[in-house]
Amino acid sequence: MAKDIMPLKEYLVDARAGKYALGGFCIWTYAYGKAVADVANKLGLPMLYIIGDAEIGFFGGEKNAVQACRTIASEVDVPVILHADHFRDFESIKRAVDAGFRSVMIDASAYPFEENIERTAEVVEFAHKAGVTVEGELGRIAGYEQHLSVDEEQALQTDPDDAVKFVKDTGIDILAVSIGTVHGLYKFEPHINIPRLKKIAEKVSIPLVMHGGSGTPEDKVAEAVENGITKLNLATDLVKTVGLATARVQQKEGFGYSVANLYAEAYEDLKVYAEHKMRLLAKHKLKEDM
Ligand code: 13P
Repeated sequence: MAKDIMPLKEYLVDARAGKYALGGFCIWTYAYGKAVADVANKLGLPMLYIIGDAEIGFFGGEKNAVQACRTIASEVDVPVILHADHFRDFESIKRAVDAGFRSVMIDASAYPFEENIERTAEVVEFAHKAGVTVEGELGRIAGYEQHLSVDEEQALQTDPDDAVKFVKDTGIDILAVSIGTVHGLYKFEPHINIPRLKKIAEKVSIPLVMHGGSGTPEDKVAEAVENGITKLNLATDLVKTVGLATARVQQKEGFGYSVANLYAEAYEDLKVYAEHKMRLLAKHKLKEDM
């Protein structure tokens, strides 16, 4: 039976109440997406995909990405969610929603505070009419290439009082916070600011999101989940897992090029990685469900 993809909000509200999180797994082809969905299905967890502009290009556009996820949704028992990641303007959000996305992130965090509020609120007004979940971002999440001092890092991080105003004035469903993670692999010792997260979580009751999950120390991830984080975005690690596996198999004696020879181990490695992260993030939920 054909099944649609789902809006994200209710799953993360449940996660916040239950002190667990979902991995937001970057998807760029049906096959890798399906490998990860098989793991979510086995564990009985909602399958949450994130997708940025670049990955949408690999699918040949928003509609094809939505279609691939609808296909996966029809092949598993658990709900499937596809979330537009770091869309930066109203037009691209509208294109995604028109194509069938039911969850989007508007990232206007590069703009001054009031303009971030304005741009985010405009998206919320439009998206909520269509029943689409909206994530906003406050504070800046650095790229791995940015080597910042601790003071500079702190200056980019989400201010708890600003977060209260941002959530109230925009009407967003979920909030991406900056607490010291970076996009991509860390080139320096990560400083994950759990005290700041605690302050934000005390003041803001909607589900919180952590970007830059790859390479973030797992004890810090677990602590973050205890303190309001309900979604951990994972991208670089997935690409790395696939990249290492395909490089490794080509070194094997007698390796011959076929789709299965080149990719089968990558799918298996991706499943192992996904299961490890899903179990870490949803520890409390999985215990409850046992
Ligand atoms: P990583 O590439 O560090 O996993 O970050 C992914 C991310 O946050 C996408 O929004």
